[in-house]
Amino acid sequence: MKTLVVLTGAGISAESGLHTFRDQGGLWHNYRIEDVATPEAWQQDPTRVLAFYNERRKQLIEAKPNNAHLALAALEKKYVVRIITQNIDDLHERGGSTHILHLHGELRKARSTADPDLVYDISGWELNMGDLCEKGSQLRPHVVWFGEAVPLIEDASEIVSSADLLMIIGTSMVVYPAAGLVNYARYGIPIYYIDPQPSPIRWLKNVTVIPRKAGDGVPALVKELLENKEQCNEPE
Ligand code: OAD
Repeated sequence: MKTLVVLTGAGISAESGLHTFRDQGGLWHNYRIEDVATPEAWQQDPTRVLAFYNERRKQLIEAKPNNAHLALAALEKKYVVRIITQNIDDLHERGGSTHILHLHGELRKARSTADPDLVYDISGWELNMGDLCEKGSQLRPHVVWFGEAVPLIEDASEIVSSADLLMIIGTSMVVYPAAGLVNYARYGIPIYYIDPQPSPIRWLKNVTVIPRKAGDGVPALVKELLENKEQCNEPE
């Protein structure tokens, strides 16, 4: 089976009711990054940071995977599918995909501020001051903030370099190092970019831009890929 690597951003979850960051009405129009998504913000006002992520978690618990998440899971019938998502939501998991790397962390997990290896599931929507790890230290959201290292970037670049086909869905491609992952794709492999307002990625070869919303663009492309025997199978 061929390996299809999928890079996703906030746009794939927009039709599930979760805000993107940079579109009109997006999160970064209503919140300042430096107030809620940096280590400095956590130092200055952890309660505000926790409240921001609690609100996101509350919305996520009520959200459901949409047709794009479901279609990607269906691709596993004929492809080795590896999803690399910048999203901290769990809609790929709930949509049925089985190989998902969360580059920017996971909203429904908490991590010890004393020991980064201590990671816990959050059962409801709240993480509060006073919620402690087993060593007695405060828990923080298990997310990557601006200014922090992205621990899974090397794993992600290796996955991209294994791709026979690459799909990019719903990302403005402005946040690095995530946006640079496309450069690890083998030269000339087919790349599909689905986004109603795609960013220019002219330096890449063989890109098909599909300027549609994920909810209809992804199922349509998936249908085509599942029907196209040449794309799914290794050459004889
Ligand atoms: P952005 O908000 O930057 O970009 C969202 C993209 O989704 C845009 O290109 C939109 O055109 C597209 N979009 C909107 N609605 C869509 C739909 N229905 N279907 C498909 N695409 C749609 O979000 P990201 O690129 O994911 O990081 O942002 C990257 C990172 O910046 C995030 O992971 C987050 C943020 O700051 C951290 O917090 C560390």
